[in-house]
Amino acid sequence: MTNNPESEVSESQIAVHWREEAYYQPPPKFVAQANAADPAIFARFAEDKFPECFTEYADLLTWDEKWHTTLDTSNPPFWKWFVGGKLNASYNCVDRHAQASPDKTAIIWVPELETDEHVRISYGELHRQVNEFAAVLRDFAGLQAGDRVTLHMPMVPELAVAMLACARLGVVHSQVFGGFSGNACGTRIADSGSRVLITMDGYYRAGGITDHKVKADEALEEAARQGQEVDKVLVWRRHAGQYASSTPMAPGRDFFVDELLAEHAGAIVEPVSMPSDAPLFLMYTSGTTGRPKGAQHSTGGYLSYVAGTSKYYQDIHPDDVYWCMADIGWITGHSYIVYGPLALGTTTVIYEGVPNYPDGGRPWRIAKELGVNIFHTSPTAIRMLRKVGPEEPKKYDYHFKHMTTVGEPIEPEVWRWYHSEVGKGEAAIVDTWWQTETGGFLGSTLPALQPMKPGSCGPGALGIYPVVYDEDANDVPAGSGRAGNICIRNPWPGIMQTIWGQPERFIEVYYAKYNRDPDSKDWHDWPYFAGDGAVQAADGYFRILGRVDDVINVAGHRLGTKELESAALTVPEVAEAAAVPVMDDIRGRIVEMYISLKPGVAAEGMEAKVTHAIEVEIGKIARPKNVWIVADMPKTRSGKIMRRVIASVSNFTDVGDVTTLANPEVVETIRHHVQSTKVAKGELPRELSEAEYEEIAKYGAAE
Ligand code: PRX
Repeated sequence: MTNNPESEVSESQIAVHWREEAYYQPPPKFVAQANAADPAIFARFAEDKFPECFTEYADLLTWDEKWHTTLDTSNPPFWKWFVGGKLNASYNCVDRHAQASPDKTAIIWVPELETDEHVRISYGELHRQVNEFAAVLRDFAGLQAGDRVTLHMPMVPELAVAMLACARLGVVHSQVFGGFSGNACGTRIADSGSRVLITMDGYYRAGGITDHKVKADEALEEAARQGQEVDKVLVWRRHAGQYASSTPMAPGRDFFVDELLAEHAGAIVEPVSMPSDAPLFLMYTSGTTGRPKGAQHSTGGYLSYVAGTSKYYQDIHPDDVYWCMADIGWITGHSYIVYGPLALGTTTVIYEGVPNYPDGGRPWRIAKELGVNIFHTSPTAIRMLRKVGPEEPKKYDYHFKHMTTVGEPIEPEVWRWYHSEVGKGEAAIVDTWWQTETGGFLGSTLPALQPMKPGSCGPGALGIYPVVYDEDANDVPAGSGRAGNICIRNPWPGIMQTIWGQPERFIEVYYAKYNRDPDSKDWHDWPYFAGDGAVQAADGYFRILGRVDDVINVAGHRLGTKELESAALTVPEVAEAAAVPVMDDIRGRIVEMYISLKPGVAAEGMEAKVTHAIEVEIGKIARPKNVWIVADMPKTRSGKIMRRVIASVSNFTDVGDVTTLANPEVVETIRHHVQSTKVAKGELPRELSEAEYEEIAKYGAAE
């Protein structure tokens, strides 16, 4: 340890103590029917079987040509899986099931308004819709394999249809979360080089219809500013024949999809046989710099990995009714609403709206009505449903055999409510730890074979060998009680191929930290750095503590502090901005902004301006809880804003030693102003866990 106030406490120096939780065993009824119930599976995926073990996942798919090399490591860390193999993702998710059982339900769509009937789409019908839309993309929009297309769609089955139609042609889709702003969408259009945008006029959210097409116009303007022209905007209509947006349709640029489909009725588009390592999609995520990263996922490796993990970890059988309540606009929805479940030929539920509309009983009514038996959601949704309707699950006669939690650490107490009330004690639970970059699960219990432990995700998934390293790349042993940086020692088929257009950044962000030799062709020298702090208990289970970089996880969504700060700085009067997380009972973390203003600028109205700028640049999910205007930011002598000091102020924790700051006197002024205002507003601090204290204490300094 040094006395240098600028040095950050590293994860590895943190000793984390918590009560060990008792195990919960999976119910015998679940075990009796589970896809993975024979412990022999562990031997099949043992390290000495790597990488061939993953052919078990690839064999779940139908290949046009079989691969000749399971894993090619000749250009680290750009791994290639199932090289020489050819396949089509749309064929695997649609055609083969449509041939075998055309009447089987592929998708059940639940509109948000409870008075609206749900819609069942059979595999045969899905095949028809995907083919017709693929014909529109190919023959009307002129798209072909390798082109990128940006989708900015809400939670409607047309989104799955659009993704699968792209995949049919080998067109790389880049779905931007529907809640993101037009500007955020425009930046992603420009980065991916899309000249076609697929969007929708509007959708229901919290009881009202939202004008969504308006964002397309903003997106195109932003993309053009960044040098990318879009020549076609394909607009699905929420109600065919009606238009739910206030913005005009630009002649020659904007087209209603229902009208184009009518011209391609009955079209059949042969699936294009794609090399295993052809990109299937991009999924943008936040990092430490302002520019979002387009995680590029492959066709063969990715689809194999999500099919395999859907089978063994989600325990999906073809006759299950599976409901993942995430948004398809995030990786969870891509992997575990669309690609994984459909590759296995099951029935996947897509719900348009918010979980608590019109009340906290809605998810349980949907589950009962549709006979959902596998349920998948996030800690934020669980906390929220518990708050608004702790007694609601009891009232409905549904039965889950299996439940998932994903996206954030879950508090053991919340886990227990999920288990006993939502799951009625009848369901096996998996807490799946993974990331946009990783395609599928990295850490989880195998539900019939490994007991659950609330608050821990479990050990590495099959064929995944995690390790916890300290800052000097020493192993932090299981059971030491010390935290460190969780890494994955080996490649796996679901890992992203690269960051779209930024291969150096891919190496820099994920591999440079623990790479042993940049010239090595041996994968053992290239551990994947996940960017999360973790502790491994003596039983091998990992407890994930959260991000070690400057990313704030709001309700399971990653927001980069740099992106938030850049958004605030688009307000001309703002001189400096810093974003910090505040612990929140429901959403895990929530953003607070600190800003200082240029000389002579009046503070009046600035909070609203900054909030608006963040909504415009990123979207409403990033809306700060508070915007604090300060005369001066606490700074190091080298001029960096000490985010950890203001983060401590916002969370009512000890600001620590500030005497070595360049301007220690400002801290007390800020603390008094912020905390007295919070107390007056009733934003009282809640008790924080030790890990949360540590998260605040190590929060990075802004440049
Ligand atoms: O910090 C971890 C947290 O979410 C981050 C990944 O976010 P994203 O790429 O948006 O993907 C979310 C869905 C996979 C991780 O770096 N995280 C994800 N799952 C868990 C988790 N933290 C604790 N427990 C989890 N199960």
